[in-house]
Amino acid sequence: RKTIFSGIQPTGVPHLGNYLGALQQWVRLQNEASPDTTLIYSLVDLHAITIRQDPTQLRQWKKESFAMLLAIGLDPKRSIIFHQSDVSAHAELMWILSCGASTGYLGRMTQWKDKTASSSSGSGGNLKLGLFSYPVLQAADVLIHRATHVPVGHDQAQHLEFARQVANGFNETYGGDVLLPPETLISPAKRIMSLAEPKKKMSKSHANLKSRLLLTDSDDAIRGKIKAALTDSDASLSYDPGQRPGVSNLLDILFYSGEMIDFEDQVELAKHLEGHSIKALKEKVALTVINVVAPIRADFDRLLHDEAALEAAAHDGAEKARKSAQVTLESVKKAVGLF
Ligand code: TYM
Repeated sequence: RKTIFSGIQPTGVPHLGNYLGALQQWVRLQNEASPDTTLIYSLVDLHAITIRQDPTQLRQWKKESFAMLLAIGLDPKRSIIFHQSDVSAHAELMWILSCGASTGYLGRMTQWKDKTASSSSGSGGNLKLGLFSYPVLQAADVLIHRATHVPVGHDQAQHLEFARQVANGFNETYGGDVLLPPETLISPAKRIMSLAEPKKKMSKSHANLKSRLLLTDSDDAIRGKIKAALTDSDASLSYDPGQRPGVSNLLDILFYSGEMIDFEDQVELAKHLEGHSIKALKEKVALTVINVVAPIRADFDRLLHDEAALEAAAHDGAEKARKSAQVTLESVKKAVGLF
């Protein structure tokens, strides 16, 4: 029996990187799942507050993110969709796991090292404990539901390797197989890059709004952002992420937004487009992205207005997630001697 679990931070409208790198795969897994597969998708609001959030803004983002998960095609009758903080077992298991988590290992996490390097003091003196222990909460997320498979983009691979270590460590310490180390499913579109700085990944937190395509962007906004995307001075088309990150990112976006069906890979796609100008490529990419985003945007607008339905769905999801989590929490507490 399979249990699929994944999460996304409700820190704004998801961008095309989130969609191609993760959300699209969540929906595909749901639609292809056999009846005995459990699917659990969480809006990880406790992770969101590892960076200071404005409370009114966070509440709004939580609602919008929930509507977005439905708009992309997740079906609450088939998938359990819930806000992480509605299921207290996540935080409870995190505490228990943090008592066995090594600070040395946590200190080597890329996300933490990036933040320490960019903090003003350099030594990380002002950095928060919650940010440091972020991966332990993520481990608790997947372990509490006994996930067998976790679909994510490439940037989450290290966190999930940590989760496996935590599970194995717990089992070694307390005996038996109380926790189940899950498998990471890295999506084919593992790293979609920023349109403005194509050597960096597309991210929700980047200051330049033109660096990301949002799932709520209008057709014009999509055209404008892609037109302005940074490429290079070579007028021809070729796929070479190392030497030509901008053009290659556009080919990636084109490939994973639809052309995947007709071409083996991005190299073949680039060959097919030989003779096109960069301008023509951008127009093609914009059209393809609009075809993906427009129906999602329309569903999102409709769903967002039905507050009662959204609340009912979140309530129902939380209840199911609580049941799923309870089983593991009890066996963990028993193993540790808490009861
Ligand atoms: P988050 O909210 O940053 O991103 C959600 C998902 O989107 C993927 N992603 C990308 N994929 C390709 N290209 C990009 N530019 C890009 N940007 C983001 C991420 O890999 C992710 O799959 N820590 C997690 C949330 C989390 C979680 C979990 C995930 C909490 N608990 C348990 C899986 C299992 C995060 O911040 O994702």
